Amino acid sequence: MQILITGISRGLGSGLAAYYLDKGHTVYGISRNRNPELENHRSFNYLSLDLGNFKAMERVLPEFLNKVGKLNLAVLNAGILGEIKDMRDTSLEEITSVMDINVWSNKILIDLMYANLKYVSQIVAVSSGAAVFGNRGWNAYSISKAALNMLIKLYAREHEETHFSSIAPGLIDSAMQDYIFSLADDPRFPSLKRLQDEKRSGKMPSSAEAARTLASCVIKAHSEESGSFLDVREM
Ligand SMILES: NC(=O)c1ccc[n+]([C@@H]2O[C@H](COP(=O)([O-])OP(=O)(O)OC[C@H]3O[C@@H](n4cnc5c(N)ncnc54)[C@H](OP(=O)(O)O)[C@@H]3O)[C@@H](O)[C@H]2O)c1
Repeated sequence: MQILITGISRGLGSGLAAYYLDKGHTVYGISRNRNPELENHRSFNYLSLDLGNFKAMERVLPEFLNKVGKLNLAVLNAGILGEIKDMRDTSLEEITSVMDINVWSNKILIDLMYANLKYVSQIVAVSSGAAVFGNRGWNAYSISKAALNMLIKLYAREHEETHFSSIAPGLIDSAMQDYIFSLADDPRFPSLKRLQDEKRSGKMPSSAEAARTLASCVIKAHSEESGSFLDVREM
């Protein structure tokens, strides 16, 4: 299979890329930073790109995608959390920077895939339970993942030849959780303590474990309606 994954320098994207490469697939990975471990694989192809720089995406991606030709799977995984704080303390600029990576870069990438590939069979956007939980403090991140779910549903209506889904991967012991773990306890944001306790317990799945779970849900997603929002904890 030919698989494109965004955000492969670390975390879930790194785990997913390693998983698919070990299974003998060809992986095209995009992130700003390299991932030396993946570069040992002959079937790994890397593109260094800032998904917050839309002009650079439009300049670089057409040639890259033309060479790729066709994709069995694209995993839109790159994402940022932003700061955990109240909505009223969050500026529009901060919200925009999270929306740019978590939502709009995916719109640009999807449009460029249809313009420059022969076909793409399945597109999976990595979402989050935060899209629906509405926990205090998760401001821009929650809005972005809710918008991402709707973006995917809308594209599913336009491109019936591709199977779309947005999938919440569950908790992952990654740099994103390291940031949450580093925050001081704050009674306004009870979800932080829950996540910190989970990490402390040692039960939070590693990136490699979360990647295996997500990869099996990517297959199961085919039995769900295209455009659905799914959660690995319910699949
Ligand atoms: N961790 C969790 O518990 C959890 C729970 C639910 C959902 N998720 C979702 O799972 C996905 C992966 O999260 P993670 O925990 O693995 O995060 P992570 O460890 O912080 O990794 C994020 C990845 O996204 C890439 N990225 C960020 N900004 C980028 C940019 N401007 N251009 C290109 N790539 C960029 C990073 O690469 P560079 O910095 O090298 O560019 C990195 O490879 C995200 O969509 C996240 O929202 C995570």
